[in-house]
Amino acid sequence: MLFSRRYAPRSAEPLVLTDKRKRRSAWLLHLVPFYWLIKYRRYRRLAINLMVLVALVAFATYRAFPSETKEWLDRVEVEYAARMPNLPSLPSLPAIPLPAAFTRHAKHPIEKLMEDGRRKWEDKLRRQSKSLEQAVAEYQRRYGLAPPKGFDKWYEYATRNGFQLVDEFDAIHEDLAPFRRLSSVEVQSRTRSAAKQETMFSVAIKDGLAKAGNEVRPGGTKKGDMGRAKGFVQTLQGFVHDLPDMVFAVSGLAESSVYPTWEVSQPQNFTPTLGDAQHYVSKSNEFPVWYKYTNTCAPADPVRTNPTAYEFPPATTILPPTDFDAVPTEGAVNPFTNFLHGTEWDLDFCTHPEKFYQFGHFYAGWPMFNETFPVFGPGRGPRSMDIRIPSYYYVVPLPKYTYGFDPVLGHGQDDDPNDPEWDEKSGTMFWRGATTGGGSSPQGRYSLVQLAGQDNPTSQPILHRTGHGLSESWTETRIDVNSLRTAAMDVGFTKAVQCAPYKPGGCDGMMRDYTFVDKVPLYEAYKSKILLDLDGMGYSARSMALLASKSALVKSTIYREFFDDWLQPWVHFIPLSSTFEELFNIWAFFVGVPAHLVDPTLPAAPAQAGDVFDPKGDAALRSIADSGRSWKREHARIVDMEVYTYRLCLEWARLWYQDEQEMDFVLDHPLQDDD
Ligand SMILES: *[C@@H]1O[C@H](CO)[C@@H](O)[C@H](O)[C@H]1NC(C)=O
Repeated sequence: MLFSRRYAPRSAEPLVLTDKRKRRSAWLLHLVPFYWLIKYRRYRRLAINLMVLVALVAFATYRAFPSETKEWLDRVEVEYAARMPNLPSLPSLPAIPLPAAFTRHAKHPIEKLMEDGRRKWEDKLRRQSKSLEQAVAEYQRRYGLAPPKGFDKWYEYATRNGFQLVDEFDAIHEDLAPFRRLSSVEVQSRTRSAAKQETMFSVAIKDGLAKAGNEVRPGGTKKGDMGRAKGFVQTLQGFVHDLPDMVFAVSGLAESSVYPTWEVSQPQNFTPTLGDAQHYVSKSNEFPVWYKYTNTCAPADPVRTNPTAYEFPPATTILPPTDFDAVPTEGAVNPFTNFLHGTEWDLDFCTHPEKFYQFGHFYAGWPMFNETFPVFGPGRGPRSMDIRIPSYYYVVPLPKYTYGFDPVLGHGQDDDPNDPEWDEKSGTMFWRGATTGGGSSPQGRYSLVQLAGQDNPTSQPILHRTGHGLSESWTETRIDVNSLRTAAMDVGFTKAVQCAPYKPGGCDGMMRDYTFVDKVPLYEAYKSKILLDLDGMGYSARSMALLASKSALVKSTIYREFFDDWLQPWVHFIPLSSTFEELFNIWAFFVGVPAHLVDPTLPAAPAQAGDVFDPKGDAALRSIADSGRSWKREHARIVDMEVYTYRLCLEWARLWYQDEQEMDFVLDHPLQDDD
């Protein structure tokens, strides 16, 4: 049967076509009609030989000329290696000393976080406007502005499509705020100029049609992925006929690009007219981007007063991070039981120079604007001024990012037959990925893989439930990390990239020092109850699929995406710090601790799918898995992304035209429409 892959055992080799194989088979398919055509002609043998020749030439050409993006990546990697010949490998972080004993809680901090989250989410759902009039009033209350022209049609589009969170668009307001003081002429000029830069593309709306373009400045080159602009065009299709002519500069990268320096961001330094964007954008081989980040900080901030202490590459050994600046949870007295309220997008790197060593992407290089240019992209990094749009991976389905991807239909399905039911999943924490982000320095993904795979003679205080009913309480036990990581983690790299500068031994050395495992299809993750998700250089596009699954998402990120006002931490997903210090306590709360970890005299039993060591924790984890899954179906459908984009476009149109015509929406005098 044609669809048999989807019902095959999960261990079977998947028949998912890679892009390459798809393109090759497309070539072959073209030959089929040709074959039938010549079958009944005289020069059959000659024609067949010709066909084979054509196919061979096509294949050889394809192999000899890889895509432009790949060439660029290869070149960056070589430059990377050349620029950093003496990068010493960073020492691993020392063990953190044993904190004071944990006082017993009536409630575990995670229970409180989950209750708070649940309350906030329910309040949010309840308080949404129920009519256009209410939505207008709520808009005015929040932003002190009238909504943009076309708001009524947008409201109609949103409600007709079952969109629920009609008031929750603070993200748009925040992203556009820096551009509100620009004249319309300047908005237009900065857009057109930005779109011509190396990694930027344009999307132009004209006469109700949207089109992606790749204008190049004189003498310039083009890199990045135009698919991102095309994906944006796709999200406009449902309403583009109602939009005026205008242009967007869309980033071809996953990383944020707009980091105006602290100096130019001061009101007294505001420049009304900037001119060519070329004078404000760095080159892709200028790394690390850390210094572009730090230029957004005030001159008196530690990262700027003491720049040499954090030289790149580091001169000698590096001070390990000593602080743990998550919002402390009441009653929690050590970093191992200190949980985040949300993600770390508000990362305060200006006063914490050591953050440089925790995030791989600070070491990378990509073009960045140091003035206020309006650029639309999928992720907004800390202190960046990018304008968020839904990632094109959410709109253009790919097997590696799409839940229930069906290779025959070419898109995702609400149910993936490869996603086991809850009771058949194992209680491990799963992560697979490439070594992207950081050119081989041990932070981010590296420290997670290190934690999972390397011998670690230290132990950690783990809080676990003991007793039943009235005698139930939380007990703290020190458990050695080697036992914890074996019982809890299923983590490994699947691919080494940007590894040439790794010391010692380059790519081979990296393969030796870290756990590398076979590449698996996305759905292999679903056999675990806990799915870890980490940034690479940019945001992680995998979260959407992981949320849609029947497992729970544990996410560490410093990026914000368009849905940040809609996704509630501790309800739809579990936020994780970039130090991973609390990771084993997250696991112990939700999965429970197998008896042999608490009492080493008991024999170690290998983990089995369906093991439940703490039924209450398991139920809590399942509620997060279920909430994430329904969130994806109810609030992150493609049409929800369109509703977001539609409203953003109205705001953008207002900035584009406000000096020429009235662009506010006025309720009492509805606009005269032509139709
Ligand atoms: C902004 O970037 C341009 C291009 O890289 C550079 O020449 C200029 O010095 C930068 N300006 C500031 C204030 O950093």
